[in-house]
Amino acid sequence: MVDDFKVRKAAEEDVPLLAEMNARLIEDEGSLNPMSVPQLEARMAEWLESDWRVVIFEFDDEVIGYGIFRIQPDEHEPGTHVAHLRQFFIERDSRDKGFGRAYLVALIDNWFPRPCRVELDVLATNPGAKTFWRRCGFDDYSTRMVLKR
Ligand SMILES: CC(C)(COP(=O)(O)OP(=O)(O)OC[C@H]1O[C@@H](n2cnc3c(N)ncnc32)[C@H](O)[C@@H]1OP(=O)(O)O)[C@@H](O)C(=O)NCCC(=O)NCCS
Repeated sequence: MVDDFKVRKAAEEDVPLLAEMNARLIEDEGSLNPMSVPQLEARMAEWLESDWRVVIFEFDDEVIGYGIFRIQPDEHEPGTHVAHLRQFFIERDSRDKGFGRAYLVALIDNWFPRPCRVELDVLATNPGAKTFWRRCGFDDYSTRMVLKR
């Protein structure tokens, strides 16, 4: 049941674990982000104090992932909102069991306003995540192009 999938606001004491999970996310998605774990910790601590919402996913009192998002007014549709999902991560040994979809549903149902558009970027090096988002109902909207010189 979705009720078993607990989402809670992250606290300062979660920062070291969040930074470790962020490092695993960077590795898994093939990101070019070169930040070290201490640098990720410092950035995570800053986000906790910002308008980014950092939330922990728990199941049976065990942390199995996290998400980071920000809610802003939708400039294209006044009166509605956009949720930008910046990071979304399920621990490696908890994948492919329906957790990702369940926590996404929990965010949409309990943490995002209604009506709300949900946006996120997927790296080209992360086709598995692209399939995941498609399975959860997302469609392609744009492609970010990069020139390396
Ligand atoms: C992407 C991620 C969140 C998926 O979480 P998960 O708990 O494994 O996903 P679920 O088990 O809920 O899967 C939901 C559906 O997506 C599909 N799916 C999930 N990961 C997939 C993958 N790597 N390749 C193909 N399909 C995948 C599942 O088969 C399932 O399909 P269904 O509709 O037939 O049931 C997880 O793999 C992860 O944290 N990856 C590393 C971080 C990352 O890439 N985050 C997203 C950045 S954009």
